[in-house]
Amino acid sequence: MENLAIITSGGDAPGLNACIHAVVKSSVFYGLKVFGVRDGFNGLISGEIYPLRLKDVHGIIPMGGTILRTSRSEHFQTRQGRFEAYEQLKKLDIHQLIIIGGDGTMEGAKVLAEEYKSLKVIGIPKTIDNDLEGTEYSIGFDTALNTAVDAIDRIRDTAESHNRIFLVEVMGRDAGYIAYGSGLATGAEGILIPETSMDMECLQQSLSEHYNTDRALIIVVAEGDEGGGAMRLKEDLSQLLPDRNIRVTILGHIQRGGKPTAFDRILATRFGIFAVETLLKTQGNAMVGMYEGSPRLIPFSQIHKRNMKLDDNDVKAIEILTFQV
Ligand code: F6P
Repeated sequence: MENLAIITSGGDAPGLNACIHAVVKSSVFYGLKVFGVRDGFNGLISGEIYPLRLKDVHGIIPMGGTILRTSRSEHFQTRQGRFEAYEQLKKLDIHQLIIIGGDGTMEGAKVLAEEYKSLKVIGIPKTIDNDLEGTEYSIGFDTALNTAVDAIDRIRDTAESHNRIFLVEVMGRDAGYIAYGSGLATGAEGILIPETSMDMECLQQSLSEHYNTDRALIIVVAEGDEGGGAMRLKEDLSQLLPDRNIRVTILGHIQRGGKPTAFDRILATRFGIFAVETLLKTQGNAMVGMYEGSPRLIPFSQIHKRNMKLDDNDVKAIEILTFQV
């Protein structure tokens, strides 16, 4: 019986447990012995590697977080750290590894696979920011987006009641996917994302030209927007609109927790099954991705951080739907 290990790495995201569930079930189905690594790459380096049985993953699909726990490991970024990790796998005769993570994790997976050719490594994309090249969707994005939409709808209630301006900051270190999606889905009057530099200018212009003081406003700001976050925007807007009551809400890590949506559960499950089947058939060293509804394999060399590409229609949509107040 061949051995396989699974690891979750980087920031957590809803849907990780559905993926772990699928990997364990597929491994058992195909006659592999499966191990779980605790605490991400830090746990791999220190040898926190335990067998996973069907009963360990029973009923975990609806749970947020990751039953394996996770970490962002600096030591794994060194050659020595990766050597220690490899030695731990070798001790247990594990030569196949499934790594679930974002862009930093995929970079680590690629280097590990290059350094230790006897190891077959498959990556599975996970990031609420959805900013990984090679896949249209990463595990966790859909849930985070829906969490942000739900929160902004609630903020809208109180904003309208008090006729206030709310600046809502959503996650997205370098990408505006959550801000763009939640802004459109809630009818926000402003969307500020890192991919466009015109948005702050447009917002200020439309506020000074058409602003009706008898109206509440919701402005969604991606944390990575080039103008700074919501706190910074509040300073600017307070000068532009000194008579208005402006409030800031930073949604923060709320977006990373909670029950995964059906979309994320299904995506994670399909990725998990496809990853195990791919390990059986190929040399690995690639990430699985979803493209036009089908899973596919992309070499690690082609995986990097993705910028959200806005075409003219998207930019027009922001103009039509948001900056008219
Ligand atoms: O990459 C996912 C993400 O949630 C980003 O949106 C956010 O900037 C970052 O992780 C937060 O990281 P941490 O949990 O380490 O504070």
